Amino acid sequence: MHGGQYQVAVTKQHHHSYSLTDSSEVDPDDEKADSPPPLTPLQKLTTDMCKDEKTIKDLIIGRRVGFYKVRGEIGCGTFSRVKLAFHALTKDKVALKVLDKTRLDSQAQRLLSKEISSMECLQHPNVVCLYEVMEKPSRLYLVLEYAGGGDLHNRLSTQGKLSENACKITFAQILSAIKYMHNINVIHRDLKAENVLFTSSGCIKVADFGFSTQVSNRNDALDTFCGSPPYAAPELFRDECYLGASVDVWAMGVLLFFMVTGTMPFRAETMGKLRRCVIECEYTLPPWVPGPCQRLIRGILKEAPADRYAVDQMLGCDWLLPVQFPWTLVPPEPASPLQGLLDSERRDLEEEVEEEVRGLLEELGFTAEHLQNNQTKNSRSPVTGVYRILLHRAQKKRGCDSPPVIRGMVRDPKREGLRAYKGLRHTSKLCVLS
Ligand code: ADE
Repeated sequence: MHGGQYQVAVTKQHHHSYSLTDSSEVDPDDEKADSPPPLTPLQKLTTDMCKDEKTIKDLIIGRRVGFYKVRGEIGCGTFSRVKLAFHALTKDKVALKVLDKTRLDSQAQRLLSKEISSMECLQHPNVVCLYEVMEKPSRLYLVLEYAGGGDLHNRLSTQGKLSENACKITFAQILSAIKYMHNINVIHRDLKAENVLFTSSGCIKVADFGFSTQVSNRNDALDTFCGSPPYAAPELFRDECYLGASVDVWAMGVLLFFMVTGTMPFRAETMGKLRRCVIECEYTLPPWVPGPCQRLIRGILKEAPADRYAVDQMLGCDWLLPVQFPWTLVPPEPASPLQGLLDSERRDLEEEVEEEVRGLLEELGFTAEHLQNNQTKNSRSPVTGVYRILLHRAQKKRGCDSPPVIRGMVRDPKREGLRAYKGLRHTSKLCVLS
């Protein structure tokens, strides 16, 4: 699923004439019908959006956007705010990222285009899913999968370092997401604890693709400094061109250190001192960190990008050996004798899911014509939004969204000591190297 480049454009807003392209819309004023059939939920909603005073007022004041009812703020960034919202038909919770177009300079617009096109081609259980994109005259809205368990930075700040098993489960999921992204040449460029979210079931979702980019070749060098300084690789501080995958790998090393110890590997009072620490790769691993984990961190946090572990080396390391992924995360190699069987099982499952979604869409009032007129790959369509939300719900119901487990693990060990990391969230920056 590859998305095209996104253009920010000003369009006219029409609250009073909301319709989807289907000739079977019911006109409730049609006097010829003796006893018109009851309105479907979709017909009721689109009618309310055109005629109901309260709904129209909510649309005008921003308490509703498209098919979504908007609630309170759950996050904010440099150019955006994230709000909790509900789909008016499916009732599912979503995260609504709201961007003020009037505040976006040309560079921010370019980054936004990349964020959308990266997210449009990503579909992985550990990556926040983009359901829909909506555009109004001054605002742009990204409708995202909601991850209700908070972010990793908050968790480490409030509960201290994670237990070793929790670290393995969390890190394995981040690794799975990054392996998938790098395989399709998407580089995140802003991996940090603040951008690692938990769902309420403990699944990890890598979020915020605002600095991401898709390279045409994994050996393409990049030259834009992106991200947060404490997570930035030495080559970024040296103002060199860099390979995207290697800077994501470095940031994963910083993340792992943070999860395991509750402290950041590179800390300094000034940017100059931080730069020196990172460039000299100067960090101290506490001796109590288990040997296999120490070896993994040391394999990642190497000054020279070429010496750093590759993602596959990380996945194959001793420390992660007891992690059992659900089969959806790491499918076997294509040549594996199991592949044929799994392919047919997966096809059956996909067909079952598709059928369930089609049934639910029909119950809501979406017709075959709606689906035909609104390609489900077009993120700008409200039909796509509903389709993707229902598809995701059906996949989750079948366990596609469950975290990996540790072989032989009975329960989580007691959580350990707190570290003073409250209020020290890391802000991300961008500058083009000259
Ligand atoms: N904050 C930012 N993005 C979010 C998301 N997708 N879910 C929950 N909270 C968020």
